[in-house]
Amino acid sequence: MNLSTTYLGLELRTPLMPGASPLVTRLDNIRRLEDAGAAAIVMHSLFAEQIEGNSVAVSRHIERWQDSFAEATSFFPQYDDYPLGPDEYLGRISAIKAATNLPVIASLNGTHLGSWTDYARLMEKAGADALELNTYFMATRRDEAGAEIEQRVVDIARAVRATVRLPLAVKLSPFYSSVVHLAGRLEDAGVDGVVLFNRIFQPEIDIETFDVVPKLGLSSPEDLRLRLRALALLRDQVKASLACSGGVHSAAEVVKALLAGADAIQVVAVLLRDGPEALGHILSELKLWMEKFEYTSVAEMRGALSLRNCPDPEAYERGNYLRSLQLWRE
Ligand SMILES: Cc1cc2nc3c(=O)[nH]c(=O)nc-3n(C[C@H](O)[C@H](O)[C@H](O)COP(=O)(O)O)c2cc1C
Repeated sequence: MNLSTTYLGLELRTPLMPGASPLVTRLDNIRRLEDAGAAAIVMHSLFAEQIEGNSVAVSRHIERWQDSFAEATSFFPQYDDYPLGPDEYLGRISAIKAATNLPVIASLNGTHLGSWTDYARLMEKAGADALELNTYFMATRRDEAGAEIEQRVVDIARAVRATVRLPLAVKLSPFYSSVVHLAGRLEDAGVDGVVLFNRIFQPEIDIETFDVVPKLGLSSPEDLRLRLRALALLRDQVKASLACSGGVHSAAEVVKALLAGADAIQVVAVLLRDGPEALGHILSELKLWMEKFEYTSVAEMRGALSLRNCPDPEAYERGNYLRSLQLWRE
């Protein structure tokens, strides 16, 4: 059975890899992931705020909000909460490379153009095999249009593309007006793949303490469905690699993501909950499913249920919307 896949031009032995998370800050976890069958290691992000020493900027924000209402400080992470400084991060790339034969995908995370994008070159020098760029951003201003925000994502991707030869993926958030259009623009800018999607961390309000608490709950398989639609839409409209991130907890979700069109699948929640070995269990279940349905390779599965054969995806989406509302029964 052939589980191999190509992602960002990298030949991978399986489609499964850990997504960006603190899990890989420990080298013993990396070896366990490799033993379990991971195809690559995606590191947690190095943030622009860390690179540009912007604990000051962050605290300025905090102060500004503090002036408005004291509870707002809980919106912001403490600078000390970031697990690794920029130099340590580069050192960690080299250490992971030394500890594993797997390709290492570094992650760079920022929202506005700045000197931080130069760090891509240092990541390349430190031995990263590919780069994931995360532009996680929540629009908060009335005077900033969606088109401006998208332009910024493209500009950042272009800046990083001009800096490195490394294969480059951009991890997107789900709530752009047209993810398909944006992914196409990124591809035109030289991006090799998109990761679908960031999870949007939504705040919670503690009604006893009046605190706004950033809530980082783990995903559930329900989260996958947003990804499935985007994968199915994008599969045949871009040549870029597609990675699925969000809601993959078992082989069932892996199968769905592959059928919708994913080249690679990233998992985080299930590994944080059940440990690195969970990845091996998912791969074993995947093989059983493939045997049962007589697939001999992941390549055969990929995109089998994309919207390739759908003459009018817009009408299809609208039709399903109407049907699901009208046929709803308690
Ligand atoms: C504790 C934690 C830390 C994370 N850190 C990062 C990060 O540094 N950079 C990033 O791009 N995504 C980060 N993510 C998001 C994950 O990579 C992933 O997109 C998300 O958890 C959805 O996948 P899952 O459903 O398999 O958990 C983090 C997620 C968790 C739970």
